[in-house]
Amino acid sequence: MSQLQPVRGTHDLLFDEARKYEYVVQTARQLTARYGFEEIQTPIFEFANVFNRTLGDTSDIVSKEMYTFKDKGDDLLCLRPEGTAGIVRAFISNELKRQLPLKFFSAGPMFRYERPQKGRYRQFHQLGVELLGVDTPQADIEVISQAAMLLGKLGIADLATLEINSIGDKDSRDFYRATLVAYYKSHEARLSEDSKKRLATNPLRILDSKDKNDIEINAGAPKLTEYLNDVSQAKFKAVQAGLEALGIPFVVNPSLVRGLDYYCHTVFEFRTTHLGAQDAILSGGRYDGLVELMGGDPTPGVGYAAGIERLCLLLKSFPGAQRPISLIPLGEAAEKYCLKLSHQLRSEGANVDLAYGGNMSNRMKKATRANARYAVIVGENELKNGQLGFKNLDTGEQSTLSEADLLRRLPELMG
Ligand code: HAM
Repeated sequence: MSQLQPVRGTHDLLFDEARKYEYVVQTARQLTARYGFEEIQTPIFEFANVFNRTLGDTSDIVSKEMYTFKDKGDDLLCLRPEGTAGIVRAFISNELKRQLPLKFFSAGPMFRYERPQKGRYRQFHQLGVELLGVDTPQADIEVISQAAMLLGKLGIADLATLEINSIGDKDSRDFYRATLVAYYKSHEARLSEDSKKRLATNPLRILDSKDKNDIEINAGAPKLTEYLNDVSQAKFKAVQAGLEALGIPFVVNPSLVRGLDYYCHTVFEFRTTHLGAQDAILSGGRYDGLVELMGGDPTPGVGYAAGIERLCLLLKSFPGAQRPISLIPLGEAAEKYCLKLSHQLRSEGANVDLAYGGNMSNRMKKATRANARYAVIVGENELKNGQLGFKNLDTGEQSTLSEADLLRRLPELMG
């Protein structure tokens, strides 16, 4: 049997990659808590109809990327390709409507059968928020400004540009769609094959096309923002005014339409030029019709999700693990003593490295590999006179200290 490989588009998180992941999620968890968001965890698989209708039958996700399977009970299930529909399902099935407004933070794996490349995977991870029950632009502003602050906290705000657009309410969109279809029909011969298909199914997505001819045709296409009715326009202006008041830079991108059917009004994306083709690092928008579409009472919503791998790829620095204190016992009695001491130091919160064996020089090497800052060396003499050997591994400086001193100085040694 050939050596086992991970499934294409999946990856293991090891060492620094795992640390970065944890740092990103922890930063988001702490920041969103400041805005009153509470963590929610929904199952990784749901009934297929949680996603099918809500994301849109013609969306890329539903039409070609979902991991759909029948389980042994013959239920049609899906590995979740995104988080919003599952959270709305949870909102409905837990009968939470009396607790509105609700603010949820979540993080975890998502699954899409896409062509893997840098920053694009089949199992990837998202963190995100959903704010349910508020239809005023204040909610859009809060969610977008939080996303901007998150990128700031992660030290990558300078690597991303915020693009926003409004796709209006259903009336505005229906009116615009008809105008757009008429425009594309007059250029149909030059449209790419994909776009020709989309003309019948989802013409707004043609605006997103990366095809050279399509891009030329799109340059002359009518702009959605010019077809917004008064209500939609007023909402969009209020969102922009709020972002300006907070000093959050953005550009209006009239061809930003997003790939999921549930959106209305505000859509936004933080894009980067640092990840090749995968330029979206955090995306979201308003979805006022989704709860009703899924069988709940009409409830507005707005939120975003960021690809954690993409955020990790952009990180310039991240806190390393707490540096351990290495205990180096020499001889059987010292082994026993150090085992107890390690237990005590760990219970006080210290990160302790206690190698599983080897001579002094081996253990010293292991301590260096573990990135220990200090080594505590214990042999027979040290046990007898109660003074432990103490070495600063950064400076090489050696001294002695008692166990009581070690415990007293622990907060300083852990820092
Ligand atoms: P989305 O744009 O499909 O939106 O995904 C959000 C983010 O997930 C993207 O901006 C990207 O960073 C990341 N992402 C998507 N696909 C992949 C992939 N194959 N590999 C790595 N990263 C990926 C949503 O999922 C919506 N639920 C966002 C939302 C929440 N809207 C409202 N609330």
